[in-house]
Amino acid sequence: LKVITSLVALRQELAVIRQQGHRIALVPTMGNLHRGHLRLVEEARRFGDRVVATIFVNPTQFAPGEDFDCYPRTPEADIRALEMAGADILFMPQILEMYPGSLKAMTTVHVPGLSEELCGAFRPGHFQGVATIVLKLFNMVAPQSAVFGEKDFQQLEIIRRMVHDLNLPIALHGVSTVRESSGLAMSSRNAYLSEEERQTAALIYQTLQTLAKALRSFGVAQIEMLEKNAATELTLAGFSVDYVSVRCVADLSLPQGNELPSSLVILAAARLGRTRLIDNLKVADAS
Ligand code: PAF
Repeated sequence: LKVITSLVALRQELAVIRQQGHRIALVPTMGNLHRGHLRLVEEARRFGDRVVATIFVNPTQFAPGEDFDCYPRTPEADIRALEMAGADILFMPQILEMYPGSLKAMTTVHVPGLSEELCGAFRPGHFQGVATIVLKLFNMVAPQSAVFGEKDFQQLEIIRRMVHDLNLPIALHGVSTVRESSGLAMSSRNAYLSEEERQTAALIYQTLQTLAKALRSFGVAQIEMLEKNAATELTLAGFSVDYVSVRCVADLSLPQGNELPSSLVILAAARLGRTRLIDNLKVADAS
């Protein structure tokens, strides 16, 4: 694993790789890597001859008052993990390398509509920060393919739209969520949970499973009632629920009422103490 911190050095290294005719697969991350991230690297090895991982805790995707300052940073452990997982290059820039100028005066990417819904409604500017940094990373690395976790389902759909709308020649691959044995989706933010909260947190996935099964039995006519029941269940367990929402898998639009349950995905975001957790489940994948 070659660890690179400057953009000039990254471009030099990638130029050689490209000259040799290798395909590049990109795995963008914010570090504090867990098994979910390592699955992304393993998947990336299928799509590229060389895997470039990036670690950058991107300030522009954190709204004021969010956890940018205390977001877990574990570079040494991350480097060891990436080495084991078979990444070839780690690009780990400082903030000034990524944002040399004024953040306020910078060109940004905004994917309208979906960026303001679901998590976007609760995290103003978040998806603009994500789309902008991902486009910057795409331009810096110029990969043929890029791999993202489906745990951030809305993020992946927004990146898909950006790639489509801006004609980026990059194939996107989504990778299914890796879970703890309790069902809790792996996330760097799980590190904020106390032992007791961690047990409660597993309820999110159970609630999604219950809702998916109910959708399969009752059909889409009952969506609103089922969403409300799921949110109430989480609230009673101690969560502060941002949303539980059933959407179409294909584009995250609101179901019109004539969809098959198997074409739907349930997304949820809820806070437990100071930790904001998100998860999702495709109805077709519910067990
Ligand atoms: O999913 C993440 O970790 C981040 O949002 C990403 C895609 C690396 C952009 O900062």
